[in-house]
Amino acid sequence: MISHIPVMKKEVLALLEDLALETVFDGTCGGGGHAGEILGVHPEIKRYIACDKDTYALARAKEALQGFSDKVAFIHAPFSLPPEGAFSAILLDLGVSSFQLYMPERGFSFMREGPLDMRMDQSQDFCAADIINAWSKEELSQLFFEYGEERKAKQVAALIVERRRKQKFTTTLDLAECVAKIIPRRGKAHPATKIFQALRIAVNDELSTLHNAIQALAAKLAVGGKMIVITFHSLEDRIVKYAFRELARTKNFSLLTKKPVVPSRAEIAENPRARSSKLRGMQRLV
Ligand SMILES: C[S@@+](CC[C@H](N)C(=O)[O-])C[C@H]1O[C@@H](n2cnc3c(N)ncnc32)[C@H](O)[C@@H]1O
Repeated sequence: MISHIPVMKKEVLALLEDLALETVFDGTCGGGGHAGEILGVHPEIKRYIACDKDTYALARAKEALQGFSDKVAFIHAPFSLPPEGAFSAILLDLGVSSFQLYMPERGFSFMREGPLDMRMDQSQDFCAADIINAWSKEELSQLFFEYGEERKAKQVAALIVERRRKQKFTTTLDLAECVAKIIPRRGKAHPATKIFQALRIAVNDELSTLHNAIQALAAKLAVGGKMIVITFHSLEDRIVKYAFRELARTKNFSLLTKKPVVPSRAEIAENPRARSSKLRGMQRLV
């Protein structure tokens, strides 16, 4: 079974080290990797809320956190809808879990044949095929440019629209091969990397609500409480940076990381998925 290695685990624990934690909100608990680490070193925790959009991730987390079952509450929800109460720590580790990426049937990977799905929340109707087969050329081009930062966005959109007139796209590899006709391989990155990133962001509405969600979650921190956010691409990191800055300007919060913390070389060597990650932290003062 594919496992997920929690990113910057030491750095997360170091930021929480000086706190006596009571209630923790883990908005993206995934398979429960960070959760297990935090619960392990903070026996004082009374309630750990493990939230995820993905029911499969929650099932994995339930298994992994069996030893803490008296403290953990699992909720299937977006992190923008946290439960009532104040939290002494909030963790958002954005993006996808390794097991989501490696399960071909979830459709996240351009390396594995699967349906054009990409939904983190499988109870949602809207999936990647709905975008690829129905959005206009202009909409696709804008999506690939804005969320994928893909320079050849227009050409890719045009080819997709032309191809789907003959035959709709149904699989990941079909789309990846079509994209590769326009985008050359750049170093180690697969030509479809940015296009798949853009689709995933749109299917899961990953960016449009992030700024507001961070601000709303910050308001739920108890005085002295800390929020830690780990991102995996520059679009996400920019949103977190500005949301944290705005909060710090109110003087009710202070930045714990003036610059984002990045993983050590040793961590990247052990877990290449960590290479693009950035961590930012913030504390509520009053
Ligand atoms: C990188 S993984 C988290 C891994 C986890 N920290 C661990 O160590 O096992 C990200 C998880 O966040 C979930 N997710 C992404 N966006 C979400 C959102 N807006 N609300 C709730 N869960 C979300 C995904 O389904 C995925 O399971």
